[in-house]
Amino acid sequence: MTEPLILGIESSCDETAAAVVAGGRKVLSNIIASQIDLHKKYGGVVPEIASRKHLEAVLPVIREALEAAGVTLEQIDAIAVTHGPGLVGTLLVGLSAAKALAYATDKPLIGVNHLHGHIAANFLVDEEPPQFPLVCLVVSGGHTDLIYMTGHGQMELLGRTRDDAAGEAFDKAARSVGLGYPGGPQVEKLALLGNPDAVPLPHARTEGLYDFSFSGLKTAVLQYAQKASKAGPLSDQQRADLAASFQQAVTSTLAEKTLKAAKAKGVTQVILAGGVAANGALRRAMRETLAPHGIRLGYPPPILCTDNAAMIAAAGHYLYVAGVRSALDLNAVPSLGLL
Ligand code: KG4
Ligand code: ZN
Repeated sequence: MTEPLILGIESSCDETAAAVVAGGRKVLSNIIASQIDLHKKYGGVVPEIASRKHLEAVLPVIREALEAAGVTLEQIDAIAVTHGPGLVGTLLVGLSAAKALAYATDKPLIGVNHLHGHIAANFLVDEEPPQFPLVCLVVSGGHTDLIYMTGHGQMELLGRTRDDAAGEAFDKAARSVGLGYPGGPQVEKLALLGNPDAVPLPHARTEGLYDFSFSGLKTAVLQYAQKASKAGPLSDQQRADLAASFQQAVTSTLAEKTLKAAKAKGVTQVILAGGVAANGALRRAMRETLAPHGIRLGYPPPILCTDNAAMIAAAGHYLYVAGVRSALDLNAVPSLGLL
């Protein structure tokens, strides 16, 4: 039997993306039209502008993904599309395109949870894929969830953020040190020049065993920047020190709680998912924390950590082989949860 070919479509935020994945493992194409430059001047994503841009990009991006994969629409086995969580207007663009294609070609339509897509990106690897059972840390712009997984789609929530998501904290800290949107990658770059022990900041812990809280840390960064700037604009070194100290506070807490969860569940595999999983300091902190306990760490390559459609096709693959199909009245669910 040949491996199923899944066309993935993603439009939950500011990336219009389409991809073709074979057998849930092999990325045949991964096209991403980013709108970052468009939203930069507003300091964040403007939903109405994003929807309009998705509308212009969606069909050319799908066409490009099929061409780059060297397959025709007829050869595709199923169409997987993000139906939440995300911005309602942008979700509807990808969803409508997917529904129209599924209807016109009589192919199965599969609605995919965007967060399940981020997790599935870990399995898009040539080498040995992660082994279940495992603990997964989902760290994106809207989520920070610690979960226990026994199989694809089989998950138990262990902990989550009680306020801001990790990515959101990076974006807000970026603003406090005078960086633009999206903040995460820029904070990481600036932090390379700073001393992570220079600024004493609160940790992002809570009393809850596996829960996180980032709002106190975010406020501490802002207050430190405001106080320091009373004596004049922050020097480049001060900004870098603040970025590095913030990044260390976030990554050390994430690593510490993940280790605690992995040990409690007795797993030897941890995976990272979501945009913040692209962060080198987080990967390092995780590796250094988990390796002494014999726990393997997996994470997708950076391009598959941030929003893309290969991850949606991968998650769609596992649903496809499990016989899951969506009806043509599949709707966008902006606040769709992980479970
Ligand atoms: O998963 P994602 O692309 O979109 C959502 O589903 O939310 O995550 C976006 C988030 C943003 O907050 C962005 O600043 C953060 O991921 N991010 C990073 C890095 N790359 C993206 N945060 C820290 N370091 C990075 N290298
Ligand atoms: Zn995402």
